[in-house]
Amino acid sequence: MVRRMRILTGLQPSGKLHVGNYFGAMEPAVRLQEQGEAFYFIADYHAMTSSQDPVALRENVRELAIDFLACGLDPEKAVFFRQSAVPEVNELAWILSTLCPMGLLEKCHSYKDKVAKGISPNHALFAYPALMAADILLYDSNLVPVGKDQKQHLEVTRDLAVKLNEAYGEGTATLPDAIIREDTAVVPGTDGQKMSKSYHNTLPIFGEEKALKKLIMKEIVTDSTPLEDPKPIENSTILGLYKLFATPEAYQLLVDQHLSGGFGYGHFKKDLAEAYWNYFAPMRARREEITADPGYVDAVLKRGAERAREEASKVLTRVRKAVGLV
Ligand code: ADP
Ligand code: TRP
Repeated sequence: MVRRMRILTGLQPSGKLHVGNYFGAMEPAVRLQEQGEAFYFIADYHAMTSSQDPVALRENVRELAIDFLACGLDPEKAVFFRQSAVPEVNELAWILSTLCPMGLLEKCHSYKDKVAKGISPNHALFAYPALMAADILLYDSNLVPVGKDQKQHLEVTRDLAVKLNEAYGEGTATLPDAIIREDTAVVPGTDGQKMSKSYHNTLPIFGEEKALKKLIMKEIVTDSTPLEDPKPIENSTILGLYKLFATPEAYQLLVDQHLSGGFGYGHFKKDLAEAYWNYFAPMRARREEITADPGYVDAVLKRGAERAREEASKVLTRVRKAVGLV
């Protein structure tokens, strides 16, 4: 029997879900669950590399699980689990580490960026890509949808898969392919830089209407072009975001209004705030339903963990044999 393509991705439980996370990670994952055998997990081990707070970790895992389900993850279609519910991943990470040259990890941008930001690097932060490779290879994943910032980690994963096969025989690991969404590869934040928690420029997906709309009205940075003049459309944060939420016709109208002059940024922001609020309305409703049934999330994650573990143990048995551990 030919196996369907296995699609896997992980999301870190590290705070409030924002528009960048949604378009860069969640929405593509939700769409892809229709096209293969999806394995989606909450990367709680990874989150521990940057924060060691048990109360926050538990809370963030739960919130992310609810967010993901609210955004359309269907547990009948996708295997949804917590990374740490399959501790076997650590054994594979160890095996991969024995084949992983220091240089491969030293050149990783995300590690270098964190060090440059003054985070004092621990071993786990350095070894992060090896654990990520284990996440992917443990399930014989074929496709891995991620944002552009994770591209290099996917390259490391492929390198390690090749090394495993060279060292222990073809077929020990399955080579995965990254799926990077180019059109929404980088969602701009309110200041025009990449939207990211670390830049404090995010627009959260869930929250109170007034507060969320206020963020758009107050925080999105614009220039001082007078109301009557045409407004620049290149690198416009408002347009960049609006494109994600509006129909092509509505988007074109806003572009035309930029070009014609006579419309102020307040007007554009109002349209953006409206489109943004409406776009996430169905997810908000679903989130309320899920929150009202506390046992549901636990049951989904428990079942997901059982299914994931079953798959993981098949691969790990194969790898353990290949490397001589059994
Ligand atoms: P943050 O930068 O806020 O810390 P994470 O690094 O936790 O976000 O990202 C989680 C997922 O969301 C990753 O797959 C990442 O590629 C994606 N992502 C985050 N920010 C953006 C963005 N601005 N545009 C596109 N994708 C993003
Ligand atoms: N490093 C990813 C991120 O920060 C999360 C992640 C962990 C992941 N393991 C993964 C993504 C495996 C895809 C596949 O976004």
